[in-house]
Amino acid sequence: MTRRAASGPEAKWNPGLYSTNARFVSDLGQPVVDLLAPQRGERILDLGCGDGVLTRKLADLGCDIVGVDSSAEMIAAARSLGLDARVMDARALVFDAEFDAVFSNAAFHWMKDPDRVIAGVRRALKPGGRFVGECGGLGNVRTFVQALETALARRSIDPSTVNPWHFASADEHRARLEAHGFDVMSVELFERPTPLPGDVAGWLETFAQSFVAPLPAAERPGFLADVAASVRSSLRNADGVYIADYVRLRFAARRRGQEDDHGRGPRDDVTRRVAGPARLIRTAPEG
Ligand SMILES: C[S@@+](CC[C@H](N)C(=O)[O-])C[C@H]1O[C@@H](n2cnc3c(N)ncnc32)[C@H](O)[C@@H]1O
Repeated sequence: MTRRAASGPEAKWNPGLYSTNARFVSDLGQPVVDLLAPQRGERILDLGCGDGVLTRKLADLGCDIVGVDSSAEMIAAARSLGLDARVMDARALVFDAEFDAVFSNAAFHWMKDPDRVIAGVRRALKPGGRFVGECGGLGNVRTFVQALETALARRSIDPSTVNPWHFASADEHRARLEAHGFDVMSVELFERPTPLPGDVAGWLETFAQSFVAPLPAAERPGFLADVAASVRSSLRNADGVYIADYVRLRFAARRRGQEDDHGRGPRDDVTRRVAGPARLIRTAPEG
């Protein structure tokens, strides 16, 4: 009989583990900062700011930046960098036409209910404000996901309720942004093979906790060891470095202002889904 996890558990974030095993996440955020092209004095919201290392870079560029994250532990780490960082769920943003831009790196695919998140981002932006970000896209870390799901199914647990990620296609993301009253300047899906700083076990310990949570505590170490063993040969390169099969979705959009809205505010049918192709696509930036 297949066991179902009671509910999809929220991930627990540990700033120490994140810094050791996942510093590459913020280190690889520079192209998204470049796409944002922040100007001195702009008021910017960093959505899912984590431990604030990338947020600090934006602050150092002279931006007036606020970071929000649902993890109190990550926000404490961000505050220790001298940032205005607040514990807040991205599904319940409280801002109203306050920001010139909303920026987000490696966080959007963790946020359940993306329509609510984007509706809140739109409200937070001034008309004409930018929403620029990058997150996991369709096919992201497929080797890890398949191994985790296979190992759970082998233990008679239905993996569908515990996978915390939504990896959208470029078409799906574009449609969602447009439905919420954004003009999409660019959205692209691309492979970004990513060297890990150590063994695959560190990656699993940092990012795969939602898959482990439904298991009895005594079974967890064995589960993680099985998953790690099953991915090592696929991910190890000739130099012995583990290369994770990251796929990124990078986008830039602009909130329509009243004057160019032409009566097209956010649509009522924002939950409409546009099925994305099950292959990698690259959508050229427009205009
Ligand atoms: C992989 S980390 C990225 C952190 C940071 N942006 C960076 O580049 O290092 C993902 C972050 O998203 C946050 N997050 C996930 N779901 C969230 C939600 N619903 N609301 C706010 N933050 C969320 C997590 O707490 C975590 O800090």
